[in-house]
Amino acid sequence: MTLTWSHAFVNVKNLNQMVSFYTDVLGFRVNDQADGIAFLSQLEDEHHQIAFKEDADQGNASSRVGHFAFRVESLVEVKRLYQELTSNDEVGKVVPVTHGNTWSIYFHDPERNGIEVFCDTPWDADQPFAETWDPQMDRADLETYTTNLIKEHGDLKANPRAQVDFGSV
Ligand SMILES: [Fe+2]
Repeated sequence: MTLTWSHAFVNVKNLNQMVSFYTDVLGFRVNDQADGIAFLSQLEDEHHQIAFKEDADQGNASSRVGHFAFRVESLVEVKRLYQELTSNDEVGKVVPVTHGNTWSIYFHDPERNGIEVFCDTPWDADQPFAETWDPQMDRADLETYTTNLIKEHGDLKANPRAQVDFGSV
């Protein structure tokens, strides 16, 4: 299994100031912004390289990192890691979350830094989008479950990172 760096999720005190700096000065664009969360990227095929969440209390804490995120190539790898981590006392609770465009698991490293490991789904979804999913589900059931969730939030669109055949969905 290879973990590929994807994004950081950072708690900030002043969202507007941070978004202005990262867009005006550093050249990021905002892909989605809602519910006090902004998702920024400079890459066509990466929805966010960095996400900011406005949280005055968290912003004053010693660590402002919400989580580091790593991509793996397949759902099988996410499921395998989930099984391994659920029996590992060092990481605490392992939480499965789908963002519509990902099947993710969240956990903490031994010093309580947040980690997300995910694979892409074939679809895109307006963000923020966070729903639970069951790593015990087989792929066909999980695809049905996930597409139904996405349709409840909006239109089903192709993930720019993935080749999608809607005929098989
Ligand atoms: Fe994330």
